[in-house]
Amino acid sequence: MNMTSFAKTFILTIITFLTLVAAAPVNPRDVYVPPVLYPHQGTVWRRGSTHNVTWDTSNPPKQITNRKGMIVLAKGDRLIGLDHPLAQGFDVLNGRQEVTIPADTEPGNDYSVVLFGDSGNNSQRFTITK
Ligand SMILES: *[C@@H]1O[C@H](CO)[C@@H](O)[C@H](O)[C@H]1NC(C)=O
Ligand SMILES: *[C@@H]1O[C@H](CO)[C@@H](O)[C@H](O)[C@H]1NC(C)=O
Repeated sequence: MNMTSFAKTFILTIITFLTLVAAAPVNPRDVYVPPVLYPHQGTVWRRGSTHNVTWDTSNPPKQITNRKGMIVLAKGDRLIGLDHPLAQGFDVLNGRQEVTIPADTEPGNDYSVVLFGDSGNNSQRFTITK
């Protein structure tokens, strides 16, 4: 890892941390963590292709602190592309959001998407192919 990408990763980590802290709701009952339904284990997406990420909105709390959602790709336990989320600014109550996998994504079988609203929940691991 060269110095620049190290610095970038470090800064992104700090930003993520601050974002999560800032997004932490005052009232724990407001925390809304809808489970991601798709993609799931066994899903294979080609890089460059467009898909609907879906999640379960059947049980939303009455009050949601932050309804604006963000979807970020993760590889292994690491969030990647935090500086260019797959989608952001959508309503977390929509239950679905179209995302396009960047064409330069490295193929791998340990990808997941993380849905952020009040908090984050990640999908099961899925595969991205060329
Ligand atoms: C996150 O989603 C998974 C399914 O993808 C679900 O099993 C889990 O309960 C969810 N976590 C929370 C805190 O709701
Ligand atoms: C995603 O869902 C919307 C609404 O159902 C649909 O119009 C759109 O074609 C879907 N996109 C993909 C890539 O399947």
